[in-house]
Amino acid sequence: MSDSLRFPGGFLWGAATSSYQVEGNNHNNQWWAWEQEGGHIEDGTVSGLACDHYNRFQEDFALAQELGHNAHRFSIEWSRIEPEEGRWDEKEVEHYRRVVESVREHGMVPFVTLHHFTNPLWFERLGAWTNPRAPELVARYAGHMAKALGGAVPFWLTINEPSVTPAGGYMTGEFPPCERDMNKAMAAAKHILIALGTMHQAIKENALHDPPVGPVINMTYVQPASDSEEDSRAARILDRYLNSYWLDGLRDGVVGPPAEGREEAPGLKGAWDFVGVNYYSRARVKAGPPPTLIEQLSPDADAETSTMGWEVYPEGFYHCLMRAASHGVPVYITENGIGTDDDEQRCRYIVRHLREAHRALRDGADIRSYLHWCFQDNFEWTRGFRQKFGMVATRPGTLDRLPKPSAYMFRDIARENGVTPEIIERYLESDR
Ligand code: FCB
Repeated sequence: MSDSLRFPGGFLWGAATSSYQVEGNNHNNQWWAWEQEGGHIEDGTVSGLACDHYNRFQEDFALAQELGHNAHRFSIEWSRIEPEEGRWDEKEVEHYRRVVESVREHGMVPFVTLHHFTNPLWFERLGAWTNPRAPELVARYAGHMAKALGGAVPFWLTINEPSVTPAGGYMTGEFPPCERDMNKAMAAAKHILIALGTMHQAIKENALHDPPVGPVINMTYVQPASDSEEDSRAARILDRYLNSYWLDGLRDGVVGPPAEGREEAPGLKGAWDFVGVNYYSRARVKAGPPPTLIEQLSPDADAETSTMGWEVYPEGFYHCLMRAASHGVPVYITENGIGTDDDEQRCRYIVRHLREAHRALRDGADIRSYLHWCFQDNFEWTRGFRQKFGMVATRPGTLDRLPKPSAYMFRDIARENGVTPEIIERYLESDR
């Protein structure tokens, strides 16, 4: 009989969501406007009512509690709170106050994200993150929420996946505003990094207590396709953009290349009380053409992949967690999960990744949570509703919530505060 993988006392187990993907009817941001143009979402769906979580949050939190969760991550929709520049909608602030309360009443610790990809239309019209005023504008919103929600929020997450917005919006052009302009991408990256500092400061100044505040970095394990100098260089470029630009920027307080030069950003140095880590996969890269100089390889034909086409690579999780932890701040796993129609695959994915997190813990990493992406099937950005990341299915039409077997497996793990020998035997024995 295998031993169990026990986690430290007080470890937080739960799931994550984001406003646009689950709430429904977030019509005042750039994603909604872009969707209205038609033809952008791969499966032809629109976010629309999404999971109607805006109205059903009590039901969702009751279910999460039943499923053993003791923590929950969600995001506040900025475009609801500040529908026009400088105008606050206090009814919406009140809504999120009730959401936070409800998370707590259902025995879970709330993790509150302030920015998860969506921008209010007015902010978008100002050029969004390319505008040098962006760090100040988003900090004002962060301060407003910190003041309003006072002592009720134990963990604030500033910006979700800072590298995705410049890359999606201005490099690959996959996300609105769908541009391909490296100068804009670098300006956006720079202002987002600076904003991690301004938001941190604004929350600290406005919250009643001194809540921990941190960013959510989507760490990717980057490897060169070969050991040639060119491929190694390509790997260094991508690794810098995805990982160290943000991690080192927060550590040193410096906005460095690739954005431009070496510029100190006041308030950025040490602007993290913890680091949130999202991990999905690895990236293998070789040298490529300008402007990025990199080309990402597709997974090998025999590699296990998700319906997103992402390679399943649990070992990379260990390396990313160790690297995040080496910065000396606590690590909270804020997302990890898989798009799949095969829930057995999800179970195996979870257990294999938990084994890596456990290995990192054993090797000294101070890891304090595992928040699975996602609580329920939802609107997966350009990929639409076709992608199933949830431990809970959302039935089309009725929007009924239907826990999948993985939700019950996760419940057992959360209740035991560890992966039990039975679960290990079922999902790990074969790949020992
Ligand atoms: C992450 C995002 C999240 C979701 C998952 C699959 O990059 O933070 O919103 O789309 O990927």
